[in-house]
Amino acid sequence: MPALAQRLNRTQVASSIQMSIRARELRAEGKDVISLAIGEPDFDTPRHAIEAGYQAALKGDTKYPPQDGTKALKEAIARKFKRDNDLDYSPDGEIIVSNGAKQTLFSAFMATLDDGDEVIIPSPYWVAYPLMVQLIGGQPVFVNCPQNNGFKPRPEDIEAAITPRTKWLMLNLPNNPTGAACTREELAAIAAVMRRHPQVWIMADDMYEHLVFDGFEHHTIAEVDPSLKERTLTVSGVSKTYAMTGWRIGFAGGPKPLIKAMTNVQGQATAGISTVGQAAAAAALDGPQDGAREMAAAYKRRRDLVVDGLNACKGIACHKPEGAFYVFPNVAGCLGKTSGGGRAIATDQDFCAALLEEAHVATVHGGSFGMSPYVRISYASDDATLAEACRRIRSFCAELH
Ligand SMILES: Cc1ncc(COP(=O)(O)O)c(C=O)c1O
Repeated sequence: MPALAQRLNRTQVASSIQMSIRARELRAEGKDVISLAIGEPDFDTPRHAIEAGYQAALKGDTKYPPQDGTKALKEAIARKFKRDNDLDYSPDGEIIVSNGAKQTLFSAFMATLDDGDEVIIPSPYWVAYPLMVQLIGGQPVFVNCPQNNGFKPRPEDIEAAITPRTKWLMLNLPNNPTGAACTREELAAIAAVMRRHPQVWIMADDMYEHLVFDGFEHHTIAEVDPSLKERTLTVSGVSKTYAMTGWRIGFAGGPKPLIKAMTNVQGQATAGISTVGQAAAAAALDGPQDGAREMAAAYKRRRDLVVDGLNACKGIACHKPEGAFYVFPNVAGCLGKTSGGGRAIATDQDFCAALLEEAHVATVHGGSFGMSPYVRISYASDDATLAEACRRIRSFCAELH
């Protein structure tokens, strides 16, 4: 076979995908597997968004679109940034639409990273960050966010990680995998550090901005400190807020030179984003928001159900996060034991593997997000499924010896 590119040696398949593949295999063998491994809402896309996509196609909105997004969607995004984040981004050059926020991140890194450039990634992190950075030739630099600080980045740790090669600071709040989110004051303290390092871009990945609970208010760094706006990329999308993962629409607001460079990169990878998806996303952003609020209320109820369920398991201690739809329980109390099925549990990875094989619950080990011994559990499933998953985890833990 002809050779593949060397750069692929720098990346790997994410653990969440590996767990999902194994879960699918077990299902094919007839096992009743519950998958809590993937960050995918179980709700349906709002009807008015589907209708808008359908009508756009019928109207003939089916040609190649502008590479940075349709005018209608960029205008809807500008209204969203004003309404939700009190940020002014012009649809004329300060907004880009991508095939999901994942492509937004990729375009931003491609447009800015030279070989060896460093990207500060608070850890635990969404696995895609380091994998993308490495694929492009950059260097991830991890900053630990320990549980005793609510899994949030500490300003002094960020500052200590900055070097002359630092290109980006990643902020993902609410966070995947922990659900942690920073208050306005905590963000202001991070902003104070960043003011001292004007050579560093800041990425605010706000994918979970609408999934915050108990009256917590989401803020984003460009809004908290407007002096940083000219080097901040504020990223969001419709996947999580509106249950539109399959439509593949993400977006960002940022300074014109960066957005232009990202559009250039994107233009090499794809001739624009699906017009039908863009019409649906515009309708979701501009339409009634009560569906999104109801989904957020359901996630809060599920978070409470799962946190209580996990804390009732022997050897597990689960922190209650501010947002997103993940919990990140500590499984230190389960290590050094043997499962009911005879598997040695030395690491969080062993824990997740045994849990899947014996209790048929798919989760992802914390090590793959940069912190052990933890497990990421996505609670974007219905209440009955989550209750059953907790019951299975409880009996799995009870059998550890
Ligand atoms: C933190 C974070 N950012 C971005 C994304 C990308 O979302 P999408 O590409 O569906 O817009 C995800 C999806 O899992 C995520 O967890």
